[in-house]
Amino acid sequence: MTATSSSRAPRLLAISGSAREGSLNGKLLAVATAKAKALGAEVNTVDLRALALPVFDADLIAAQGMPAGARQLRDLMAAHDGLLLASPEYNALPTPLLLNALDWMSVVQVEGDLPGGTGATAGKPAGLMAASPGALGGVRALPIVRTFLSTNFAMVVMPEQVGVPAADQQFTTPDRLSSDALDQMLSKLVASVVRQARWRIQG
Ligand SMILES: Cc1cc2nc3c(=O)[nH]c(=O)nc-3n(C[C@H](O)[C@H](O)[C@H](O)COP(=O)(O)O)c2cc1C
Repeated sequence: MTATSSSRAPRLLAISGSAREGSLNGKLLAVATAKAKALGAEVNTVDLRALALPVFDADLIAAQGMPAGARQLRDLMAAHDGLLLASPEYNALPTPLLLNALDWMSVVQVEGDLPGGTGATAGKPAGLMAASPGALGGVRALPIVRTFLSTNFAMVVMPEQVGVPAADQQFTTPDRLSSDALDQMLSKLVASVVRQARWRIQG
């Protein structure tokens, strides 16, 4: 099916697994966001730190109920058609910030018309990327993120992914990577996510 002029713009949620000032993954996500917007998508970025989620603790739910940030992430996911996700690699794993947020979202229950945390994501496309100052570009953590999103959240994770090595030298302009080859890979990944999101909207 092709896009029609009457179909609405696909909405993508952009998440970085690092919220630190000057994050390389935040910069990579910003480049991906610019590319998605150039293709007609609406993109909203969520700051995982601003969700203020405590370390996951089932006793805390029993004592105080679900933290507002967990519902907020579910609401955001429910309101978007797909995901752009930049994940740093910490000791070959995704960051605690990202895993903790996903764990919290996974236990949010259905509430009225609102889906549970995993229902909010089901069937939606996700594009994975990573940036590292190291030589491997952070790609060792991406299979774990891929499994998490596809297995637990039933997301359609794009087969292509982008790892940006020596990332401290890649962000000299806001809308492209310095390396032509990596920039093309990123463009292709973003285009796949936007295309899948469009198909999903058109049903
Ligand atoms: C606890 C810790 C573990 C790290 N482990 C890895 C690693 O396994 N592989 C890697 O490429 N970089 C590793 N790094 C370096 C990160 O890639 C680097 O700090 C990067 O800038 C983090 O992403 P950000 O810039 O988006 O915050 C690690 C950094 C920290 C703080």
